[in-house]
Amino acid sequence: MQQLYFDTLIIGSGLAGFTLALNLAQGRKVGLVTKLSLTEGASSRAQGGIAAVLSKYDSSTQHINDTLIAGAGLCNAEVVHDVIEKGPHAIQWLIDQGVSFTRDQNNDTGYHLTQEGGHSVRRVIHTSDATGKAVQQTLSEKVINHPNITILEHHIAIDLITSDKIPNYPDNCIKKRCLGAYALDKINDEVLTIAAQNTVLATGGASKVYLYTTNPDAATGDGIAMGWRAGCRVANMEFMQFHPTCLYHPHAKSFLISEAVRGEGGLLKLPNGECFMSQHDKRAELAPRDVVARAIDFEMKKRGLDCVYLDITHKPADFLKQHFPNIYSKCLEYGIDITRQPIPVVPAAHYTCGGIHTDLKGKTNLNNLYAIGETAHTGLHGANRLASNSLLECIIFAQAAAQDILNQPETPITTLPIWDESRVTDADEEIVISHNWDELRRFMWSYVGIVRTTKRLQRAQRRIELLREEIDEYYANFRITSDLLELRNLVDTADLIINSAMLRHESRGLHFSLDYPAVLPIALDTLLER
Ligand code: FAD
Ligand code: SIN
Repeated sequence: MQQLYFDTLIIGSGLAGFTLALNLAQGRKVGLVTKLSLTEGASSRAQGGIAAVLSKYDSSTQHINDTLIAGAGLCNAEVVHDVIEKGPHAIQWLIDQGVSFTRDQNNDTGYHLTQEGGHSVRRVIHTSDATGKAVQQTLSEKVINHPNITILEHHIAIDLITSDKIPNYPDNCIKKRCLGAYALDKINDEVLTIAAQNTVLATGGASKVYLYTTNPDAATGDGIAMGWRAGCRVANMEFMQFHPTCLYHPHAKSFLISEAVRGEGGLLKLPNGECFMSQHDKRAELAPRDVVARAIDFEMKKRGLDCVYLDITHKPADFLKQHFPNIYSKCLEYGIDITRQPIPVVPAAHYTCGGIHTDLKGKTNLNNLYAIGETAHTGLHGANRLASNSLLECIIFAQAAAQDILNQPETPITTLPIWDESRVTDADEEIVISHNWDELRRFMWSYVGIVRTTKRLQRAQRRIELLREEIDEYYANFRITSDLLELRNLVDTADLIINSAMLRHESRGLHFSLDYPAVLPIALDTLLER
């Protein structure tokens, strides 16, 4: 059993984890633990781009207003101002790292800015339709070559280690602190004890809790579940965002059709070619995501449709191939030529607006524990995230956390107890894991999806209780595997989503309940505490 020591332990190698590692490494020894290979995660899949005020024809006030409107009255205005004011600086940092964004000499910024739902002007800087890949490839090279960053790929963090679990820990009477984490080395099947002065959860979102999602397999809510189990406050988990346009094809697992396709003129149509969005909202295809996803869900249910269509065939073929090369070639692989045929699309779980509650520096309520990126609830997104504000949030909160950590004096790192496996044996029936995983994702989709009712939520809650009993028993008796850890985290996260949804007696942003269709006059966060 190995014990490792770092000044800062970062769990997760998405844009949030990379930005933090690079901003810290000039002054601190950093351990970067990631459960798959280095660039796997939602960040690498990001398509549309990053929203920031770059053009002289745009203003912070407009970006702030668009964010607040999309957030349906629940954004933290201070956070929104802070993030948006820092937006241009964040983009410049990426450019300085070597990220190459799509150019446009006709734009006053020198870059092409695209349009997405909820934005009143074009302000999304991008690298064609594969922005995340460009960003992550550039940053990963820097991370790999940095002498102060130790990368532990294929290591899945199991749980945080907190001072209350250490007998006679000196500071316990003052405030519980995070001292590091246990991580399973998936290749050597060994649990490492990692001690650190500061630990940062940068583990991404939880959309894999749903059957249909745009998210990668990694999005199992691990950071939210680990933080919750350790005693972190968790906020607004009922606001799970469904992206309106995921490719509908039996062989396409979870391929997103970027909102930028609608931004560049794509129209949503019924199978008979009729447009329907303007009947749901005057902003039509460019309404915020919650509105568009709900409209599609409504039309599909009303007419018994398997999907609707996104039609951009009226644009020149060269324009489409140039702006959406990734989407064009992926759809062609499935026999859909987007220059000549409308794209079959359905809504799918996309983004976790809630998460571990933090302050403006990414600090949680546990000493020495930070949460950044999609794992965190910072207050930026409110009840519905504005498109392309997520990558921006990753950079800004990672930079703020780095500054806060660098301002602290270095302290000696404690030796921690090693992982105890003396009472467990090898699992007898792995089928329990895959069966429960499937069941969870199916009932979450059916009962806790785009449109909710109290009865459906209660049904989901009963099933969660049964699953939890089984998983807890399995966890206590058998040697851990990566699948078991992820399932345990999904169950905890699903429970938080359901409980938060049960507590909200109104329909706001992404949370829509047939039993409570009205919006309450006062917008309040749902804050859960153990
Ligand atoms: P991620 O990039 O998801 O990284 C999480 C990391 O944590 C991964 O490395 C994962 O392996 C690791 N991890 C998780 N659990 C553990 C564990 N237990 N132990 C160790 N490691 C762990 N947002 C925008 O702003 N603009 C866009 O254009 C855009 N497009 C998107 C397109 C798609 C298809 C998707 C899915 C999302 C998109 N988003 C977009 C949202 C945005 O990409 C994500 O919110 C953002 O990338 C999250 O970054 P992150 O660093 O928080 O997490
Ligand atoms: C997209 O390209 O549609 C995704 C943008 C986002 O999730 O912000």
